[in-house]
Amino acid sequence: MSKNIILGITGSVATVMIFKLIDELEKNGFQVKIITTKASWLFVLSVLARKPGKIFKFLEIWESGLLEFTGAFSKEKGKVRHINLVKWADAMLIAPASANTISKVVHAFADNFLTTTALAMPANKKIFIAPAMNVNMWQNPFFLKNMEELKKEQMYKVIGPVTGTLQCGDEGIGKMASIKDIVERMNNEMS
Ligand SMILES: Cc1cc2nc3c(=O)[nH]c(=O)nc-3n(C[C@H](O)[C@H](O)[C@H](O)COP(=O)(O)O)c2cc1C
Repeated sequence: MSKNIILGITGSVATVMIFKLIDELEKNGFQVKIITTKASWLFVLSVLARKPGKIFKFLEIWESGLLEFTGAFSKEKGKVRHINLVKWADAMLIAPASANTISKVVHAFADNFLTTTALAMPANKKIFIAPAMNVNMWQNPFFLKNMEELKKEQMYKVIGPVTGTLQCGDEGIGKMASIKDIVERMNNEMS
């Protein structure tokens, strides 16, 4: 089976690990196209500033939301980028997945390129979600209700989070699952 995936990146501290995740996915034979939220750029840029060589890698695989905007207004058939993307993809991975984006996915919001693409994924394709957030965000009662709703639906596969020392120094649940565990789970579910 081909392993084309859309990687949706959101605004979480765990975004600083994104290049390691991409490398590991590619080593495992996944073809990756990236969608970023605006909030994720704060974190992506902090990595790019330290590792400028990664810029080329990033541009090579980034599907731009801006191009979607022009494509959406084209009269030509087949120019609607999020639809083309979901046709190309075998699955989607949202990692790290912020509380904000997860909550939007659960309520079928489509207010940016990432959530629009997630909403357009057909039910026979899986959406893997690797949450990463502060322990209090994870344990917020409204957010937990959203997670319960998400887990009821077959097409959404939640990976983690795990317990440990969080970026903010707090101890508890909320750390993104290890890259190894994310890739292993995807390999298992997509074989
Ligand atoms: C320094 C900093 C770190 C943050 N880390 C996280 C995080 O790990 N998880 C999370 O859910 N939100 C985190 N946030 C909040 C999100 O960035 C914020 O909710 C944003 O609106 C998410 O947008 P997105 O879901 O469109 O990417 C953080 C914010 C800042 C300023």
